[in-house]
Amino acid sequence: MAKASAIANANIALVKYWGKRNKELMLPQTGSISMTTEGLNAHTTVEFDPKYREDILILNGKEYGKGDEEYDDYVGLFLKVVREKYPEKAKDLKVKIVSNNNFPTAAGLASSAAGFAALAAAVNEALKLGLREKELSMLARRGSGSATRSIHAGFVEWHRGENEDGSDCYAEQLFPPEHWPEFRLVIAVTTKKDKKVKSRAGMSQSVANSPYYKAWRDDVIPKHIETIRKALGEKDFKALGEAAETNALMMHAVAIATTPPVIYWNAGTMDIVHAVMDWRDQGLECYFTIDGGPQVKVLCLEKDSKEIAKRIRGFPNIEDIIITRPGQGVKITKEHLF
Ligand code: DP6
Repeated sequence: MAKASAIANANIALVKYWGKRNKELMLPQTGSISMTTEGLNAHTTVEFDPKYREDILILNGKEYGKGDEEYDDYVGLFLKVVREKYPEKAKDLKVKIVSNNNFPTAAGLASSAAGFAALAAAVNEALKLGLREKELSMLARRGSGSATRSIHAGFVEWHRGENEDGSDCYAEQLFPPEHWPEFRLVIAVTTKKDKKVKSRAGMSQSVANSPYYKAWRDDVIPKHIETIRKALGEKDFKALGEAAETNALMMHAVAIATTPPVIYWNAGTMDIVHAVMDWRDQGLECYFTIDGGPQVKVLCLEKDSKEIAKRIRGFPNIEDIIITRPGQGVKITKEHLF
């Protein structure tokens, strides 16, 4: 039976990925570094079987198919890659995919990262492709760039690579979760609504016309990758927080300066950004990062996480607060969703 299930956690970038150099192969302009979270996951079951006449995709209880963006631009493209790469296993088989996230979809909580990491692992298992972690991270990348990092546990670097065919573009673990178990992200969910501009479209526009793109790619990223790798290794929270916060602000500066502008922040986002800077001035150790959505992720250590969550709760525009720590990589599970 060609049925398998996998669970993958979302990851939050400390050095952001913003822009591709090859859209078809999903090759990034730059490298990036992330932390895989614990407990913010996608659980995905796939079944390849002749009984299916069409691909069936059910995401969080809603069915999608040809003509829907979720299928055409994301899962459908990924399945095309799988069928082209492994024709003898998958070319003539349709698949049913059911996937559930336990966190808000498409609102800057990297749901596509968890989703495609789980999907790649489930496909690998169901079709017995025999891919190990490195190859799996390359397959997940074809679904969504950031998914390449969610294959691994803990702190992860996605290598840009140099080759045009993408053969040296993959993610690998820098440090396991046990390296820094006290590290926390307190996520302030400022809205659960879908974002208006998907990261894919936003970054493509930024590469095309943001006047700051070149500086981001050539100056900012190489410096931040070095700083963050070193800060993670030394568990230097201050150095890490400062670089991660600056990196997020610079990514958003690139995005905001794009035509048409890509602005992910809302009022709640700004409340928390200012609060984090105030709290830091008062001696509370914390920094923020923001992805392609309005949520603010506050970097802190375990000792301060409850206090930070309590303070965030006091703001009017906050819909939810999630505390997460360095988490596990993708896992195969016997728990099928159908
Ligand atoms: C801002 O991985 O969602 O979260 O590769 O087009 O699917 P695609 O984009 P995606 O972009 C994530 C962008 C980001 C930064 C990051 O996670 O590094």
